[in-house]
Parts: sequence; C-alpha cells; structure tokens
Amino acid sequence: MVASQISDVILAPARLDYTPEVARATASIFERVRRVIPEIEWPVHAPYIAAINELKRERNAIILAHNYQTPEIFHGVADLAGDSLALARQAARTDAEVIVLCGVHFMAETAKLLCPEKTVLIPDLEAGCSLASSITAEDVRLLRHRYPGVPVVSYVNTSAAVKAESDICCTSANAVEVVESLNSGRVIFLPDEFLGRHIAGQTKVDVILWRGHCEVHERFSAADLRLYREQNQDVQILAHPECPPDVLAEADFVGSTSGMIRYVDQRRPTRVVLITECSMSDNVAVEFPQTEFVRPCNLCPHMKRITLPKILHSLETLQYQVVVEPAVAEKARRAVERMLHVVERPTQ
Ligand code: 13P
Ligand code: SF4
Repeated sequence: MVASQISDVILAPARLDYTPEVARATASIFERVRRVIPEIEWPVHAPYIAAINELKRERNAIILAHNYQTPEIFHGVADLAGDSLALARQAARTDAEVIVLCGVHFMAETAKLLCPEKTVLIPDLEAGCSLASSITAEDVRLLRHRYPGVPVVSYVNTSAAVKAESDICCTSANAVEVVESLNSGRVIFLPDEFLGRHIAGQTKVDVILWRGHCEVHERFSAADLRLYREQNQDVQILAHPECPPDVLAEADFVGSTSGMIRYVDQRRPTRVVLITECSMSDNVAVEFPQTEFVRPCNLCPHMKRITLPKILHSLETLQYQVVVEPAVAEKARRAVERMLHVVERPTQ
C-alpha cells in the first residue's frame, strides 16, 4: 500500500478559556440574554465576547450588527444593531477607524461606499444574499435599454456594481417613499419581486419588476400563517415584505425588521410571531419579556456564516477588507446617498 502524503494540516481554532475574569467581565451581558442563550452555552461564547470587546477598543473599531445576527453577537459584541437602513446611516456617522460589519456582504459594501477612507471588515467573505446574486450590472443595462428613460430603483440587497447602474437605492423601510420621490409614472424596481409587488400595492406608480427572491422569506406560506393563528390565541403576525404576496395578505403588519421591533415596542402584544429570519425573535425577545414570541424558524445561511470566532479573527488580522473599485464606488455611492437624502429630508 502507498502511504498518502499530507501536504497541509488545518488546525481548529484554539478554544479560549472561561476564566473567572471572563465570567466577571461578561456577567451583565449574560444576565440580559439568559432567556435566549442556555447557561450551558455561555462558557463557549463568553471568552470570545470578552476578547472581542477588548480588542475592538484597542483597534478603535465599531461592530455593526444586523437584526438577524445570533444573540451572542447582537447582544454580546455589537455596538450598534439594526436593519439595513440603520446600518448604512450608522456607518456614515461613525468616528471609528475600523468598521466590522456583522451581516452580509452587500451591507459591508454599503458601509464601505459611505466611508471610503475607513477600514471596513466582514468576518466571512462568503456571506452573500440570494437577492444580491439574482442580478448583475449587465442585467440592469439591458433593462434600461428595454425601458428607456424609466428610472431604476435598486433594493439595498444588491452588489455595488448593480447600485452603480441605478438611479437610487432603497431599503424595505423606505421603498415606497423612495419610489414616489422620483416623480415618475413608472419605475424599474429590482431585484426583489415580492417587495416590488408590495410597493406597487401602495402607490400609483407603475412598477416594473425583476424576479429575484429571498431564499429565506420565500419559504413561508399563507397556510403556515393560518396555522400559527389557529394554534396561538390572539397572536399578532408581523411579516417582512420579502415574503410572497399571499403571506403578506395574512399578516397583521408588514414592515422592515426595525418596523417589526417598533410595532412590538408600541403595541406590546401578548403574543407575536415574526415572519422572518430565526434570530430576530431571540434578539427582540430579550427587550420585551412580557411578550410571548412564537418562533417559526427559517435560517439565513449567509447571516449564520458570521460567528464570534470569525469576528475575533477579523479584528486580530484586519481581514477581510471590503474593497470596491473606485469608478464603481463613486456611482454606487451616489445611489445610496440619494436614498439617505430622501429619508433624511425634513418632512413638509
Ligand atoms: P431589513 O432592511 O428589513 O433589515 O432587511 C434586510 C434583509 O436582508 C432582510 O432579509
Ligand atoms: Fe438575503 Fe434573504 Fe438572507 Fe436577507 S434573509 S440576507 S434577503 S438571503
């Protein structure tokens, strides 16, 4: 028998120790999250949380986390958390030298567009998005050719190259406002078909759609929602607009991830179900202990690529830096800034 050759050995990252100092340094964080993180898991998370929080101060770094990040990231190490719009605004305002974006790649790219002079890191470069990968810059050029003169509104869940071909960006929190700000009878909206249909139902503007879908939200069905209602007395159903239209029709409220949090905060329902990614309910439940969260679970595999060990690695090595080609960045930035201008203008 010929002995096989071993050319490389990949070591598992060293497990950090749960020392009494680490336990003390993270005790107040554990008190906050103990209803959503089992006590038995804390010795695994806590050493990373302590190390990350120390290193981010040394690096003058800020950690921005999307609402779909796991609770140990969201409550343990994030300086600021929110929906896509909030992350973009916070990135634009920070004084930190380094931004670690715990979310998916388009979010980190948006941060880089708004802070070109800062180091923007994503802990895993493979954290993509099915919507962002459903359309290319070339597709947008073809759409423009087919519908000359019709403005292009691109959802923030797109690459910088697609944003660069667009007139303006939007997020699910401001899509109708952005579409109407263009004063055009017709717009091309891309790439999320379901969000586009939802917008079309709320405006007189004629919306030309693209067939992109979120692989997480398209899996919910109207039958699922009816079942949650049947099985949970007085449940309020809140759905993200990336869900299919028949799902949205069954919901009591449709809104962005921050819109859902606002709804729970203002209405304080006894029982709620969030028709969106798994971690949302855990993260929000920490803030609202009186509300019962019914938890259907559709995971975003891209969001879940971000973990505490990868965040620590990112801060230690300053990897992986998000880079956008300057010519693309300049045009894409214009589309994002135009959106921020629309949402930040004083209301008349
Ligand atoms: P929000 O902007 O509502 O946070 O949504 C981002 C996203 O990727 C939803 O799937
Ligand atoms: Fe993209 Fe859907 Fe994941 Fe959001 S939940 S990042 S839209 S794949």
